[in-house]
Amino acid sequence: MKERTTVVVGVTGGIAAYKTCELVRALVKRGRRVKVVMTGAATRFVTPLTFRTLTNEPVAVSLWDDSPGDPVHHVSLAEEADVMVIAPCTANVIAKLAHGRADDLLTTTALATEAPLIIAPAMNMHMWRKDITQANIAALRARGAVIVDPTSGDLACGDVGEGRLAPVEAILDAVLAEASRARDLEGRSVLVTAGGTQEPVDPVRYLGNRSSGKTGFAIAAEAARRGARVTLVTAPTHLADPFGVEVVRVHTALQMRAAVLARAGDADAIVMSAAVADFRPARPEAGKIKKGANAPDAILLEPTPDILAELGAREGARPVLVGFAAETSDVERHAREKLASKRVDLIVANDVSDPSLGFGTADNRVLFVSAEGTEELPVMPKQAIARALLDRVRELLG
Ligand code: PMT
Repeated sequence: MKERTTVVVGVTGGIAAYKTCELVRALVKRGRRVKVVMTGAATRFVTPLTFRTLTNEPVAVSLWDDSPGDPVHHVSLAEEADVMVIAPCTANVIAKLAHGRADDLLTTTALATEAPLIIAPAMNMHMWRKDITQANIAALRARGAVIVDPTSGDLACGDVGEGRLAPVEAILDAVLAEASRARDLEGRSVLVTAGGTQEPVDPVRYLGNRSSGKTGFAIAAEAARRGARVTLVTAPTHLADPFGVEVVRVHTALQMRAAVLARAGDADAIVMSAAVADFRPARPEAGKIKKGANAPDAILLEPTPDILAELGAREGARPVLVGFAAETSDVERHAREKLASKRVDLIVANDVSDPSLGFGTADNRVLFVSAEGTEELPVMPKQAIARALLDRVRELLG
């Protein structure tokens, strides 16, 4: 683990940039190494010299002012960052980040970094309220960025409304929370499952479910970002492999079982977010089932092995076990039954009767159900759920 966390502070061109001096000072005071990167517009509000003096580090502004021995500045800053915070962040830079544009040092660093990204917007209230700005913010949230929402009050333009940079303390809290997560799973091995298994009926048809894999992929990506060695065993999805994660692609419940059991011995924690089929066709046809007189009236099903229950039944030293529970009624009661029957440490329960949450969606609302009690989380992006879940896993790992 690094001795000091490095916080890269991005400053964009808004009047609230003067408040970033306070943020930088507070971070330095708390022993963080702070490197500031500014847009050209930001330098019109506060000079690089101010930040240089506060941080005792060079301040980066241009893609082209390479320091000797540091030929690819945006990449080195991106790699050094344990956390990146952009405060204030203008509507323009929010739009660029939401669309993956990288045309200056700040936006290239934000695109290149694997560190958690915190964004503290500040702008005129009409700009903040515009659908396009809100859509850009939602897109960034869905990709895991932490947004420290602006507050209401007097704005520099003379309007009164929402758009003021959040108080420095709120931004500082968000940065410190992310910094404490940085590399906190270093040296740990985490096995995650994702997606919905597909159980063949014949060579072209299968029984499946609506899981997109988003939840499991978010958990795997977050665990890797926090320094864990991560293996992701996933049923078919359209999602790309998360950075730094070993991905094992399977189709059926039996294949998932084999892949998980083969790796369970090396895992410190196993998170089963996959929607594993409970039943599979007992006798899949070797050829495509044709319409007509010979078509079967029914498909005979047989139960699949319960992978999580099998892991929970193991005696002796075992990894931290996290199961999910997809329920349509009495969510907490059913989740608590699963906690006991599968002998796991934590159940993440979700009500999948609401089509806007759960299967395939960007957001979800979950309960953490454990022997200690139940914690109800609000609706939030799956990346934020992954973050909160891994905080729990870290506690369980001790
Ligand atoms: O992938 P997304 O689109 O993001 O959707 C996320 C999700 C809705 C799939 C996820 O939040 C979720 O609820 N996953 C668990 C779905 C499920 O199979 O729930 P269950 O209640 O049927 O199973 C309970 C637990 O046992 C789960 O951890 C499951 O992985 C495990 N199980 C189930 C059956 C089986 N044969 N073996 C298992 O290990």
